[in-house]
Amino acid sequence: MGSLLVDDIGELVTNVAGTGDGGPLGLRRDAAVLIEDGRVAWVGPARYAPAADRRIDAQGGAVLPGFVDSHAHLVFAGDRAAEFAARMAGEPYTGGGIRTTVGATRAASDGQLRATVRRLVGEAMRQGTTTIETKSGYGLTVADEARSLRIAAEVTGETTFLGAHVVPAEYAGRPDDYVGLVCGPMLAAAAPYARWVDVFCERGAFDADHARAILTVGQAAGLGVRLHANQLGPGPGVQLGVELGAASVDHCTHLSDADVDALAGSTTVATLLPGAEFSTRSPYPDARRLLDAGVTVALATDCNPGSSYTSSMPFCVALAVREMRMTPAEAVWAATAGGARALRRDDVGVLRPGARADLVVLDAPSHLHLAYRPGVPLISQVLHNGVPQCR
Ligand code: NIG
Ligand code: FE
Repeated sequence: MGSLLVDDIGELVTNVAGTGDGGPLGLRRDAAVLIEDGRVAWVGPARYAPAADRRIDAQGGAVLPGFVDSHAHLVFAGDRAAEFAARMAGEPYTGGGIRTTVGATRAASDGQLRATVRRLVGEAMRQGTTTIETKSGYGLTVADEARSLRIAAEVTGETTFLGAHVVPAEYAGRPDDYVGLVCGPMLAAAAPYARWVDVFCERGAFDADHARAILTVGQAAGLGVRLHANQLGPGPGVQLGVELGAASVDHCTHLSDADVDALAGSTTVATLLPGAEFSTRSPYPDARRLLDAGVTVALATDCNPGSSYTSSMPFCVALAVREMRMTPAEAVWAATAGGARALRRDDVGVLRPGARADLVVLDAPSHLHLAYRPGVPLISQVLHNGVPQCR
């Protein structure tokens, strides 16, 4: 492979706190990055850059770690554009449309599901995402959950078993029986392909007792815990996640002071998904309140055909700045290092020697432009494991 030097960088976001400008983004000017064997080998002043076999000229653009999208649902069939149109005409989002996607997903072939996953991963990559998590949750039978995760595992190591997304129609009125299926044969079939277990803990989906049962057996099977919590209303999800040592509780739109305190006293990340509030026309979560309390915040897309059909991390950064009282620096950190924390990864979301060489080059001189120029395709180059991606 040989060595590769990225230079002529206008601004380098390292996310190594206390270096460079001394802030959380560890901003450096006049810096260069040397890549060897898919890893960052050296970061330093361009004038001291070692010789390399090849060179990428950032042309004065900002360079940052690839985005870490720690929450997406990519294994599905069909879309729900009509449901989106109805919402924009005043209908509320209830999560009820999940069952529509379950029907379409069960009817799809492996090849159709694989094509959708690959299309969305490619779409995300072109927008700077180099690590992406994806969940099952539109199969909801033993076989369909297992195949969803098998297909997801072809494209990412960050796979999450979400058999407890909703109670499927054939179990209507029998949630205990469905939870028994999820905890038993479904988990056993899914676990070989999953790193994480997740539950949609919400009124109309799964209550705290069901969520605790599923997450606890998932943990015992070796899976890490994450949770959909407090999306549509207040509820027990956030505190349950903290109690179980979840890596992340996701959505966090409706939080009590006790929820914020619990998060602040924990290592659980609050992952905010502003694409969902955009697409459901709901009030955005208050990131400022969480940050001021000392909570670690991540941003992710929640890419799915119902509540947030975007794969764009730059779009989420812009929304977070405009609508959630985050500064541009906080939003960029949350979309890179924050996502890495939410996945308990220390090899991504950061540019320091030994980290994976996942880099984004912007067609703009600073990270500020991601929020300042919303909707503009600013991603000029993406390197994944040190390899330039086709665009
Ligand atoms: O994270 N809230 C639960 N699950 C998804 C939405 C799924 C859907 O509407 O299809 C979410 O928003
Ligand atoms: Fe989600």
